[in-house]
Amino acid sequence: MQFKHLTLLALASYVAAQDNSTTQDLNATLSSQSNLSNLTSFLSLSPGLIQALSSAGNITILAPSNDAFAELQGTPELQALSNDSSLLSALLQYHVLNGTIRAADITNTSAFVPTLLTNGSYSNVTGGQVVEAVLIGNETVFYSGLLQNATVTQADVNFTNGVIHVIDSVLTVPLSVLDTANAANLTALRGALNATDSIGVANDTPDVTIFAPTNEAFQSIGSALANLSTDDLASILAYHVVEGTVGYSSTLENGTSLQTAGGGNLTITIDANGTVFVNAAEVITPNVLVANGVVHIIDNVLNPNATEAATPSATEGAPAYTGASSVTDVPFTSGQPTPTTSVNPTSEGAGPASTEQAAGSSSSTGAAAPMKTGAVGAAALFGAGAAMFVGY
Ligand SMILES: *[C@@H]1O[C@H](CO)[C@@H](O)[C@H](O)[C@H]1NC(C)=O
Ligand SMILES: *[C@@H]1O[C@H](CO)[C@@H](O)[C@H](O)[C@H]1NC(C)=O
Ligand SMILES: *[C@@H]1O[C@H](CO)[C@@H](O)[C@H](O)[C@H]1NC(C)=O
Ligand SMILES: *[C@@H]1O[C@H](CO)[C@@H](O)[C@H](O)[C@H]1NC(C)=O
Ligand SMILES: *[C@@H]1O[C@H](CO)[C@@H](O)[C@H](O)[C@H]1NC(C)=O
Ligand SMILES: *[C@@H]1O[C@H](CO)[C@@H](O)[C@H](O)[C@H]1NC(C)=O
Ligand SMILES: *[C@@H]1O[C@H](CO)[C@@H](O)[C@H](O)[C@H]1NC(C)=O
Ligand SMILES: *[C@@H]1O[C@H](CO)[C@@H](O)[C@H](O)[C@H]1NC(C)=O
Ligand SMILES: *[C@@H]1O[C@H](CO)[C@@H](O)[C@H](O)[C@H]1NC(C)=O
Ligand SMILES: *[C@@H]1O[C@H](CO)[C@@H](O)[C@H](O)[C@H]1NC(C)=O
Ligand SMILES: *[C@@H]1O[C@H](CO)[C@@H](O)[C@H](O)[C@H]1NC(C)=O
Ligand SMILES: *[C@@H]1O[C@H](CO)[C@@H](O)[C@H](O)[C@H]1NC(C)=O
Repeated sequence: MQFKHLTLLALASYVAAQDNSTTQDLNATLSSQSNLSNLTSFLSLSPGLIQALSSAGNITILAPSNDAFAELQGTPELQALSNDSSLLSALLQYHVLNGTIRAADITNTSAFVPTLLTNGSYSNVTGGQVVEAVLIGNETVFYSGLLQNATVTQADVNFTNGVIHVIDSVLTVPLSVLDTANAANLTALRGALNATDSIGVANDTPDVTIFAPTNEAFQSIGSALANLSTDDLASILAYHVVEGTVGYSSTLENGTSLQTAGGGNLTITIDANGTVFVNAAEVITPNVLVANGVVHIIDNVLNPNATEAATPSATEGAPAYTGASSVTDVPFTSGQPTPTTSVNPTSEGAGPASTEQAAGSSSSTGAAAPMKTGAVGAAALFGAGAAMFVGY
């Protein structure tokens, strides 16, 4: 396996011994921060968790400010938090990073940091669901489910077991593959998964990396998809899924070969500009965290029978179905519910180059644009565990 967790190791090794002569315990530190009183009251509803945090070593708490909680005022999800202690614990656990990570440890290359969220009802990522941490300009930003962002407003508040960063939004626990496809308008993929009876597999297989073609990608080769047998469609979909490896931009290196669920291999190519390709398709929105791994949105449907890697001179993805032509209607969407969200991850601002990075750096693709809209933000806020409240 060619993956390397360079950035993560760098962070983990940074864990420094705490000088506790001047630091207070978690309770005292939280109480002394008046802008964290909402978080403090939610934590007090989870006495087991606060006890665990007080005795844990080397943690980083991403602490939503009262202003962050105020944005949720009046939503059903906020109500749900008060009524469902399991959901509350999961959400709070997702706000605790495993390790002491100071603001200075976070660079303009995205790192994917494990949290204490390991409960299988909310996450199927071995070692804990992650958040993406990245420095953009002079702002320290964390991306959670649906690429929703939270920015650090007060960094490096020390306490005995680690450090607290105050953030301006409540994080979103990553959603299932299906709910993420709904929110990201990946309706053709969703329909294709349904047509092959693969939704359960996509949602429940732990530790997956999924390359998700856009609706336009399916549409542009519609003629080739029209008469496929279910088995053929299933093989094509299986060629988009890697099981047992969650490959974030920080670990997908130039030349990496990934074995897919269908058996065939995919090749990652990174060009001189840092643009990432999987075979000849371009990754246009990387690192969409999902409950059981990560989704990278790509601009072409991959073909298990046409496995060429991108050429170094490629400037955009190339279709892998020669001779196929586009169709009027997006394939596999007939009879499907229309997405209620007006989110298009391919819109302006998305894309691998949207974070500032050193010229010539090819190891990072950075964070893409958030998918949040008012509607999806509220409905999806607490991710997988909240699905029952929002009617998916
Ligand atoms: C922190 O405090 C504990 C108990 O008060 C003490 O045993 C430990 O040596 C201290 N650690 C440091 C690094 O000062
Ligand atoms: C912190 O507060 C919680 C409950 O609010 C309590 O269970 C815990 O013992 C306290 N920890 C310390 C170190 O005071
Ligand atoms: C946050 O605290 C303020 C002031 O105590 C309170 O009015 C508000 O209801 C709290 N919000 C939540 C979400 O608990
Ligand atoms: C915290 O990290 C330090 C340094 O890596 C390590 O020595 C210590 O055992 C860790 N503490 C806990 C509770 O894991
Ligand atoms: C934190 O990470 C360490 C080392 O990877 C692991 O042993 C430990 O179980 C993790 N803690 C939690 C609460 O996940
Ligand atoms: C994790 O996988 C199990 C089955 O292996 C499934 O029951 C559970 O719903 C999954 N959790 C999430 C959050 O999708
Ligand atoms: C961050 O940068 C902006 C301009 O790019 C500047 O106005 C602001 O003061 C900076 N903030 C900090 C904390 O340095
Ligand atoms: C955070 O999300 C908001 C909208 O949800 C967006 O306007 C803003 O550009 C995002 N910031 C970053 C750093 O991604
Ligand atoms: C927090 O702890 C770090 C590491 O021990 C130290 O460098 C820093 O000065 C401390 N910050 C404050 C405000 O005490
Ligand atoms: C990636 O690998 C290809 C093929 O070996 C090479 O042409 C290209 O320059 C490499 N890209 C980077 C950024 O090193
Ligand atoms: C899913 O597929 C079944 C047939 O396998 C079909 O009856 C159903 O309408 C499809 N659902 C959606 C949302 O496309
Ligand atoms: C979803 O994608 C389709 C096909 O590309 C597009 O026509 C539609 O406007 C998109 N819907 C939303 C809500 O963005």
